[in-house]
Amino acid sequence: MDFKDSIRVIPDFPKEGISFKDITTLLKDGEAYRQAIDALKALVAHLEIDVIAGPEARGFVVGAPLAYAMGVGFVPIRKSGKLPYETIEVGYDLEYGKDTLAVHTDAIKPGQKVLIADDLLATGGTIATSVNLVEQLGGKVVGAAFLIELVELAGRNKLSGVEVLSLVNYE
Ligand code: PRP
Repeated sequence: MDFKDSIRVIPDFPKEGISFKDITTLLKDGEAYRQAIDALKALVAHLEIDVIAGPEARGFVVGAPLAYAMGVGFVPIRKSGKLPYETIEVGYDLEYGKDTLAVHTDAIKPGQKVLIADDLLATGGTIATSVNLVEQLGGKVVGAAFLIELVELAGRNKLSGVEVLSLVNYE
């Protein structure tokens, strides 16, 4: 399956010059969604993974079904102020804006092998921040998996030492 057929591209959203990759069209298509998660599972099959972590919000719709399919747990990395227990937080720059991500201090045990999953790798700020949070908790990031990689933004350069795997590339 060519997953690009299921991803809608919206020019100039959320602001001029950004070509937004809209995965809602893939998510609402049960067959495409299932095949995309299965393909991601195959992409990471060579990695040893104890738990998957994914950043809010679109990281949940990729990371959680992947965790379910692999029979491992899922750790939500959330925007600041959303998690109820004790957290650590890190601020970061987005392709268009700024934000802060947080994770529960007991979400990952020291030494656990963690795959980070998200819908899209753009500048890499979100995932570099997620790696930072996981490593602060003592987790070992063994890979980062994406539905989509925006190759031109070179986000993978921010993830040195982390194996980056993506299903679909856009220039
Ligand atoms: C989007 C996307 C990735 C991130 C990629 O999330 O889902 O998480 O941006 O950009 P980056 O590689 O430049 O960091 P966003 O922060 O828009 O949040 P959302 O998933 O809640 O819409």
